[in-house]
Amino acid sequence: MSIHEPPQGERLQKVLARAGYGSRRRCEELIDQGRVRVDGEVARLGRRVDPDAARITVDDAPAPTAPGHVYYLLNKPVGVVTTADDPQGRSTVIDLVPSEPRVFSVGRLDRATEGLLILTNDGDLSHLLSHPSHGVIKEYLAQVHGDPSPQAVRRLREGVLLDDGITAPARVSRVAPGLLRIAIHEGRNRQVRRMCTAVGHEVLRLVRTRIGPVADTSLAPGTYRELTTAEVRRLGEAAVGRVTVPG
Ligand code: URA
Repeated sequence: MSIHEPPQGERLQKVLARAGYGSRRRCEELIDQGRVRVDGEVARLGRRVDPDAARITVDDAPAPTAPGHVYYLLNKPVGVVTTADDPQGRSTVIDLVPSEPRVFSVGRLDRATEGLLILTNDGDLSHLLSHPSHGVIKEYLAQVHGDPSPQAVRRLREGVLLDDGITAPARVSRVAPGLLRIAIHEGRNRQVRRMCTAVGHEVLRLVRTRIGPVADTSLAPGTYRELTTAEVRRLGEAAVGRVTVPG
């Protein structure tokens, strides 16, 4: 670079502050403490970046710094499919959010399942959240046929044998007769429905109520909102295992 050229990119602390990591001074401290990496390398104070291109992490969790990224939280209604393009022409979750920029869903919910679904164009975060080894906990309310006994609840907690193997330990509680709260970190196909069927209680209604640190009881079915920068940051932290979700 010639000394006459203006410096390229934005100051890292400014980019981090915009992404919700606190004041610029606080972000300088994060950099100074060696907690910030750019494209895998520990960043030094004075570092400039192109926030659209740089992969920035804080304490190994991806920092949501790219201005072009969008993150939606949708309350998926029953009857809508999660795939982007349905050959049968049924309505899809993509129809329920803005068409530009193009987004895709993080994981999927069955057509008959309701509740929270994240849609984004941030491939890195999506990959991290969908990866089974990262195990972001997803919580469901399942209304089931009959009223599960304490033994059935214990079996669900400890693991039940499905045709694709035994399920990992889950957090399960009976919140009312015939109503279970089930939190799992695996994401097998129709997992909650199959777990409940395996202990003799077919699911009548299934609602996802939490994805890691993100929950929202005021979002009406069929509507969406943008995730806050703090929520996106906490999702990334949860995906790398730095946050445990209460419950
Ligand atoms: N478990 C299910 O059975 N269905 C879903 O859509 C999600 C989890």
